[in-house]
Amino acid sequence: MSSEMYMYYHGLMVPRETHPQESLNFAQEFSFKDDDVLAVTYPKSGTVWMQEILSLVLNGGDLTPIQTIPNWDRVPWLENTRLAKVVDRLKSPRALVSHFPYYLMPQSLHTSKAKVIYIMRNPKDVMVSSYYFHRMARFLEDPGTFDEFMEKFLEGKVLFGKWTDHVKGWRLAKLGDRILYITYEEMVKDLPEALRHISDFLGRNLSEETIQKIAEHCSFKSMKANQMSNFSLVPKKYMDSEKSNFFRKAYTSGI
Ligand code: A3P
Repeated sequence: MSSEMYMYYHGLMVPRETHPQESLNFAQEFSFKDDDVLAVTYPKSGTVWMQEILSLVLNGGDLTPIQTIPNWDRVPWLENTRLAKVVDRLKSPRALVSHFPYYLMPQSLHTSKAKVIYIMRNPKDVMVSSYYFHRMARFLEDPGTFDEFMEKFLEGKVLFGKWTDHVKGWRLAKLGDRILYITYEEMVKDLPEALRHISDFLGRNLSEETIQKIAEHCSFKSMKANQMSNFSLVPKKYMDSEKSNFFRKAYTSGI
């Protein structure tokens, strides 16, 4: 056991505050529907970005959801406390996100036709992003120095396990054409092209005008300014933006 703030669930380290046992059980029993979309990431790989993208792509570019509902209730985390509270309010097609490894997916994911998007980000940027996130998120352990955090990251003694295990598990997922792999770096390089790809995968027929509109509203700058997506609604006792902003920098160091 790492600390009072964390616990292990089937070998996976998770934060107690946001992932109590009942939420983990709820995730395990969750019933996926055929038209659900699940975006999966190792933490700090573009989860919140994909929440915004899915909100817009699945609603034909309608801005109402991203302007009126906080991201955590609009596209909830499968394993987080909020899901049980909002699940009955979610309109189909529903979108969810998850940091779970493949081996913890509920049985219903396998038996349904729900689609999965797995987003990868280069591990160096994930590690740096995660370090700053640990400094600002008060429900996570203080990361210590960057070198100390790097040791833990490389050993996989961090939340949601080792980066390589997560990526390998999902790359070997037996979901056939129900899974799309995309990288954070591809999205940074050409967001409209990534959006066309995602929209085709989800069987949406979006006009070029809608794609451009979505790209504009999912830009780093727009999302950093959107109260419903930038975590400014979260009380300081949980997230301290004076220590680090959730939206730190606009692009990655390399592809
Ligand atoms: P940095 O900490 O490097 O800035 P997650 O949502 O999985 O926690 O990932 C957070 C990372 O995604 C942060 O990286 C954040 O800035 C980045 N991010 C979120 N929205 C983005 C966007 N629209 N464009 C580029 N990066 C984005």
